[in-house]
Amino acid sequence: CGIFAYIGNKEAASLLITALKRLEYRGYDSAGIGIHGVPLKVRKKVGKVSNLEEDVAHAGNQVSGTLGIAHTRWATHGKPSDINAHPHTTAESSIAVVHNGVIENNAALREQLSSKGYKFVSQTDTELLAHLVQDLKKQMEGATYTEVVATALRLCEGAYGVAFIFQDEPDLLIGARKGSPLILGVGQGEHMLASDASAIVEHTKDVVYLREGELVEVRRSGFKVSELHKIISSLGKNSWSPRKDAENPIVRLELSLEQIEKGGYKHFMLKEIMDQPNAMRNALRGRIYQPADVPDKWEIKLGGLEKAKEGLSADGISPLERMANASRLIFAACGTSWHSSLIAKYAFEKLAGVAAEVEYASEFRYRKPLICRSDCLIAISQSGETADTLEAIKMAKQHQALTIGVVNVVGSSIARETDAGMYLHAGPEIGVASTKAFTCQVVALLLMALRLGKQRGVLSETTLNSYCAALNSVPDSIEKWLAALTDQTRIVSKYFRLATNAIFSGMGIHFPVALEGALKLKEISYIHAEGFPASEIRHGGITLIRNFVPVICVAMRSDPAYEDMKQMVQDFRAKDAAVVVLTDDGNTDFSNIAHFTLHCPDTKLELQPLMCCIPLQLLSYYIADMRGCSIDQPRNLAKSVTVE
Ligand code: G6P
Repeated sequence: CGIFAYIGNKEAASLLITALKRLEYRGYDSAGIGIHGVPLKVRKKVGKVSNLEEDVAHAGNQVSGTLGIAHTRWATHGKPSDINAHPHTTAESSIAVVHNGVIENNAALREQLSSKGYKFVSQTDTELLAHLVQDLKKQMEGATYTEVVATALRLCEGAYGVAFIFQDEPDLLIGARKGSPLILGVGQGEHMLASDASAIVEHTKDVVYLREGELVEVRRSGFKVSELHKIISSLGKNSWSPRKDAENPIVRLELSLEQIEKGGYKHFMLKEIMDQPNAMRNALRGRIYQPADVPDKWEIKLGGLEKAKEGLSADGISPLERMANASRLIFAACGTSWHSSLIAKYAFEKLAGVAAEVEYASEFRYRKPLICRSDCLIAISQSGETADTLEAIKMAKQHQALTIGVVNVVGSSIARETDAGMYLHAGPEIGVASTKAFTCQVVALLLMALRLGKQRGVLSETTLNSYCAALNSVPDSIEKWLAALTDQTRIVSKYFRLATNAIFSGMGIHFPVALEGALKLKEISYIHAEGFPASEIRHGGITLIRNFVPVICVAMRSDPAYEDMKQMVQDFRAKDAAVVVLTDDGNTDFSNIAHFTLHCPDTKLELQPLMCCIPLQLLSYYIADMRGCSIDQPRNLAKSVTVE
């Protein structure tokens, strides 16, 4: 879900709608706005933000005002409907609230309030917050709204990012967060709150990242941040003191409006696919370099692993050293990030000689995994907000294992929760199906594997240098290849646009590439697709192979299983499947076997997935486009799953 709120001197309604469009990728089953007035004015609509926009346009002056809150929803409690959309209000529309997250003790609190006569009109957990604040305001005589909201939130278990407005306070906006992100934009005589920096950047680049358990009281003239428990402990004294600026510094956003617009592309996904050479260069920049005076020598410097965050390194040992001594690496991730973890496993085992396991964060957290102090958990996440991945980190920390984050979104919860880590610097990814964040995760993880290989003495200098040179040239190779590749994949897509099933297959490090290819196709074209390790298909999946079923095979000559793969391709063809083979430039082995061959620049085996995933992304994209699918916002799929 996405939250935006504005307080200033401009008409809020149109600003709120624009912000919701920027946030729409985070959830899009319904949307709403609430504007200050007596009573508060609320408009909400099921469906995309454009429905709400139309409604607000019809409402005209009725939604005039310079203080407002807005929300784009991804249903958790209660189906998508006008009534369940946010904001939620008290019966008299005197308090309005928007909320991301889940209130876990919703049922119990709802019952208490219902027994006092409060009438609930929606099935959401959020509505509770409006009634609860109203009820406490009556009970807590003389208390300010800030104190009341803090008290209400302390009664709520679960996760929230919230923004409140009040009918009797024309110059007050309150925001708070726990387990769900919230950022304050600091302007001249105006402020904004948002769950995502992309909604703030067109107003101001100065922001404050609220931290866990913090509340912000925002007025046109300024803001005060404090921790919920401090506000509560000074209740009645009317004197809670805001955090000092040093604790909540105003930081500059490194984000431009251009980065979050489509830039002439039909969809964000296509823009993000095409942006990959650039994004990868940004992920490599400053981390891999050649010392000026030594030809052929390369260095890798990963600043984020060299020192632990303040207060975390009791013994002066760097996270990198701890990683190097770890008995085991545990990768925890979801979705596409889980696929980059699988690729990383191959790379870390081979290049750093360290045992590595890959876990679905959502499974890991519900087991009783045996974690020891000497383990290192690496959490991989584009958004840095995936609830299950965060929970896996917390479990690892309970066992005193080292935690490392590999995330794209700066200041996100996973970035803060981990002991050390790396940002991807891929730039904002708006398309729900991940593309450039995925390849940049692989780049970051390869850098980490190589650096660790050096630290552990596994890689000779010559090997390290040759890997670095190869990695550094990947973005250029992809850039040169993209234009021709785009044309080729568009042709292949035409043949497969009516398919109902598709099989992706690869072996070794290309098995995760096959999984990712299948996931992309499922996500955006709604064609059922599965990824198999090619030989494993003999143990069941082979029954699915018959005439005209598209089988997309990754068969690179550097793969130790290449001969097996070749055999499998022949088998698929013999069963009349429609075979597409992705193989090295100049390889003619499949000329008489495959219906379509896509040629891919070759590189070292561990880096090859960076290249091989790109034709698969493009295939999915063009197939989905030809089927008229909603590519950037596929049905039922959210960009970041912040609920458990
Ligand atoms: C959702 C998205 C996927 C993403 C996954 C993990 O399911 O739709 O595209 O891969 O979450 O998200 P993360 O932000 O943790 O990488």
